[in-house]
Amino acid sequence: MQVLNSIAEMRAAGARLPDLGLVPTMGYLHEGHLSLVRRAKAECAAVAASIFVNPTQFAPNEDLARYPRDLQRDLGLLEAAGVDLVFAPDAAEMYPPGFDSSIAVGGVTNVLEGAVRPGHFSGVATVVAKLFNIVRPTRAYFGQKDAQQCAVIRKLVRDLDIPVEIVVVPTVREADGLALSSRNSYLTPDQRAAASTVYRALGAARALFDGGERNAGVLRETMRSAMSAEPSIQIDYVSISDPSSLRELSVVEGSALALIAVRLGSTRLIDNVVLGESNRLQ
Ligand code: PAJ
Repeated sequence: MQVLNSIAEMRAAGARLPDLGLVPTMGYLHEGHLSLVRRAKAECAAVAASIFVNPTQFAPNEDLARYPRDLQRDLGLLEAAGVDLVFAPDAAEMYPPGFDSSIAVGGVTNVLEGAVRPGHFSGVATVVAKLFNIVRPTRAYFGQKDAQQCAVIRKLVRDLDIPVEIVVVPTVREADGLALSSRNSYLTPDQRAAASTVYRALGAARALFDGGERNAGVLRETMRSAMSAEPSIQIDYVSISDPSSLRELSVVEGSALALIAVRLGSTRLIDNVVLGESNRLQ
């Protein structure tokens, strides 16, 4: 496994590999990230992973400084998973003095995470576009855990004609349903126990949907009331929305996303499930 810190080295190494899969990450890897790597390994001749805690997607009041990092452990996990190339630049390499451009993806970035975290998706779209230009992968792998991020990346690639195939991989969960996340390491034991309520709420919406309920207001209310018994959870939003536009639905026709964002103390958690059809985002 080759570890590359400069854009020039990464570009040269990537250019030699015609059927390359890219797994972009911010490191502190867990089984969710590794499931993306495994899918990429299964579908591509070679796999690159990037590790970069991207400052432009964090607001000044967010957790950039304390975001967990463990590069040596990450490299061990990626090597064991059979990754060929790791791109691990520092912030000055990605954003040198004078850097002054950003990508504003329209529509889908204005709601939900975009409304709560202004500028977040512009930072994500900008760094992902840079990674696509540097690595030039045939396919790139993203987790359904961040469903809105997937919709943003799909729109970025479509609108700007970026020649890469986006593959969305199902969410990996703990035994009690909590979606794996690097930020779970912030939770106290009590908060960790309470956090499983989020998946139970999503499950309640899915059960109602599978039983025939199509009124989005009823589905949203079900999620709210499933979480109301847990006083340590503060709800940022619950949503029943269109899987591509993320616009709120009043009635579900076909499939929909059920999404939840909560705060447990100062830790923010997001999760979602797909309602209908294949029960996953494509
Ligand atoms: P990060 O949070 O490190 O996540 C990297 C990738 O792993 C994302 O595509 C995310 O959706 C996926 N992922 C996280 N938890 C998962 C889980 N439990 N199951 C399946 N996949 C999971 O998302 C980012 O980094 C950044 O925004 C990035 C795209 C790298 C741009 O900076």
